[in-house]
Amino acid sequence: MHEPEFPTLRLRRLRRTTALRSLARETRLSPAALLCPLFVRPGEGIREPIVSMPGQFRLSVDELVAECGDLAARGIGGVVLFGLPESKDAEGSGAWAAEGIVQRAIRALRRAGSPLVVVADVCLCEYTDHGHCGVLEDGEVANDPTLDLLGRAAVSLAAAGADIVAPSAMMDGQVAAIRRALDEGGRPDTPIMAYAAKYASSFFGPFREAADSAPRSGDRRGYQMDPPNAREALREMAADLAEGADVLMVKPALPYLDVLRRARERFDVPLAAYQVSGEYAMIAAAGERGWIDRQAAARESLTAIARAGADVVITYFAKEAAEWLS
Ligand code: PBG
Ligand code: ZN
Repeated sequence: MHEPEFPTLRLRRLRRTTALRSLARETRLSPAALLCPLFVRPGEGIREPIVSMPGQFRLSVDELVAECGDLAARGIGGVVLFGLPESKDAEGSGAWAAEGIVQRAIRALRRAGSPLVVVADVCLCEYTDHGHCGVLEDGEVANDPTLDLLGRAAVSLAAAGADIVAPSAMMDGQVAAIRRALDEGGRPDTPIMAYAAKYASSFFGPFREAADSAPRSGDRRGYQMDPPNAREALREMAADLAEGADVLMVKPALPYLDVLRRARERFDVPLAAYQVSGEYAMIAAAGERGWIDRQAAARESLTAIARAGADVVITYFAKEAAEWLS
């Protein structure tokens, strides 16, 4: 493109007023593109604050249904559900229990006629007593024996009424295993949102407190991605697409915008980005101290994630963002 030079070129002309800036805006985020993560716990009438995530709660099923009513009224696209089960075991059987905590929450939402897209996270770490995302063999997270269990969890969540299942365990072959299980389980129409490029990130800290899902020993670096690698993320995404993923996700979001951008350029499928708990906590904490403007920082970060190429943004700011976005 041939651009004139100063003084003919004056880029400030379109920045002069609010109305001009609005007209020239390249990225517009709408509440419908946001998914709000929610934590569901046993009990009734409970809204238990999550200390490291001010403004976020562990909700009993009834409170979750009420919260979803509020989110829907604000035009939010949907929710991503995580569960705190009554008990845990070595295999994480709570993940596929017909009466599991997330299964119950989904059924309650469907009964209430919620218009939200209900995304069910598919992983074992909230349900295993050791806190790893797969089953252990000789102290290591065993890939192939975990696949069957993830498939069972996905079928159980879809049967409860989940609109989308979102595998986050980072096991090789998990998307194929889940696709096969869904198809054989009579759920060929349930889409898979794959946590394709999920990094072994320090920004998951507050989530692990919220979901009580920290590994009791070791860490997740043997299955989640190594933060320095971006080309490998594209291979993960291509593999998940080949296995049948319908939506690809990058997680965390802001520290990995380069990965998101490269994915946008390479793949024509819907892309999601997850602004994780630590990203939320940083803005919330600095906002509480008056060191940063919470709303402005949240808005800028969400806009940056959309500008980098995300079609869907998963964010703990979803509810409040609905207000400033509309
Ligand atoms: C579990 C899972 C995690 C998150 C989403 N699913 C934590 C982890 O991998 O340890 C993190 C989300 C967040 O930090 O907000 N597989
Ligand atoms: Zn997990």
